[in-house]
Amino acid sequence: MTTDGRAPTGGRLDPEDWEAFRATCHRAVDGLVDWWADVRGRPVWRPVPDGVKAALAVPPPKQGMALDEVHALFERLVLPYPTGNTHPRFMGWVHGSGTPAGALAELLAGALDANLGGREHAPIHVERQVIEWSRRIFGFPEGTSGLLVSGTSMATLIALAAARQAHADGDVRREGLGTGRYRLVGYASAEAHSSAAKAFELLGLGREALRPVPVDAGYRMDVEALRPMIAADRASGLQPFCVVGTAGTVNLGAIDDLDAIAGVCREEALWMHVDGAFGAVAVLVPDLAPRLAGIERANSLAFDFHKWLHVPYDAGCVLIRDERAHRAAFAARPDYLAGAERGLAGGEPWFCEYGPELSRGFRALKVWFTLLTHGLDRLGAAVAENCAQARYLGGRVAATPELELLAPVSLNIACFRFNNAPAADLDDLNARIVVELHERGIAAPSTTRVDGRLAIRACLCNHRTERADLDALVDGVLALGRTLRHGAAARE
Ligand SMILES: Cc1ncc(COP(=O)(O)O)c(C=O)c1O
Repeated sequence: MTTDGRAPTGGRLDPEDWEAFRATCHRAVDGLVDWWADVRGRPVWRPVPDGVKAALAVPPPKQGMALDEVHALFERLVLPYPTGNTHPRFMGWVHGSGTPAGALAELLAGALDANLGGREHAPIHVERQVIEWSRRIFGFPEGTSGLLVSGTSMATLIALAAARQAHADGDVRREGLGTGRYRLVGYASAEAHSSAAKAFELLGLGREALRPVPVDAGYRMDVEALRPMIAADRASGLQPFCVVGTAGTVNLGAIDDLDAIAGVCREEALWMHVDGAFGAVAVLVPDLAPRLAGIERANSLAFDFHKWLHVPYDAGCVLIRDERAHRAAFAARPDYLAGAERGLAGGEPWFCEYGPELSRGFRALKVWFTLLTHGLDRLGAAVAENCAQARYLGGRVAATPELELLAPVSLNIACFRFNNAPAADLDDLNARIVVELHERGIAAPSTTRVDGRLAIRACLCNHRTERADLDALVDGVLALGRTLRHGAAARE
């Protein structure tokens, strides 16, 4: 497409007028800078109006239009209705809050249009460097391999594929599971994220092969309960192959005793995988790092840059201690992907041998930009601040008679609810409170269940949040709880 919408000669898609393109880019960047600077002037979230949805639902465009017009559509139809996680009052699920530096890197990476499946070019060396930094951050040994991926779900799938290949007593890649020869089972705490079970499903092991290990009073895996489970499975002819420890559970931020899990894995010769989606980066905080002791003993680690390190979506990472096991699970180099000692086809090892994807984007650049721009100390300080904020929120809830803290705050998550209403109404009432908080643009927590009870869940993974935002959340919950418990009209 050209900036003026006319078909260029010879099939070329570059702008015909580079100066007009430059002006459009400047306008787009200026608009974004204003948008970031004014983040507090907007509601955290607003519903996408039906008219906007209808305007997006157009047939495939046969003819192009001017780039300025497309950008105007973006400003009208997309920019005002995002998820809201760049806003200081976003506290739902586990979302990072992005950085302008990371967004700039996205633009630059788009311009390079690099394919990081392999070959010899600078972007490959940037990704290698980011993986090397990660190795050092988490104390993995030299020789560890890694890959940037879409997120922890993909990272865990890759890690468990390597574990499956390493522990199956045959070549599971070649034979598949259809022979019925393999009876592999693994273990994760009952609080583990659903992505671990999904990985078991995708690897053909079946969800039931991932055994839920009970948790202790702090919602951590009860490691003593793990041993008899392994023994019972062995006794019935199954092949235990891995244990998934969690560094920061999604519901409450609990950190399993990774050192104890590593001990069991060593004794039982099992692969230890750590799901550190967001919590692993607590190693950057000196006070918190001891709670993650043992992470460096894992066979594999999955974590995200796009959560608590605020790299724009998407950016996760898998580290695998045994490079050969990693490669054994994915290597495939047909003739048309042959390497060379020199030239563009050099650059061994190619990243396509460490995961299922051949074509891969330049995710590493936004990670590189974010880490170089802010540095680990500052990123760690933001993590520490979120934990202090969660404790502050927990304290406010505990000091407010109409509110109830549903579990102690152990990291950056507070789960609580409005409880000044008949017990039978509390689940529905709190769910409605959260919907109203969203729709009124007050704050965006999410919900979960803690011991079966519906909770308002504030997960602080946001470098823009301030304590006043938590006060606004508490005030909003109280006001809505008092209004809605009487069945009053939701909207005032
Ligand atoms: C503990 C945990 N594991 C795994 C995931 C999945 O991560 P992703 O969304 O990056 O795939 C999450 C997401 O919130 C999580 O909190």
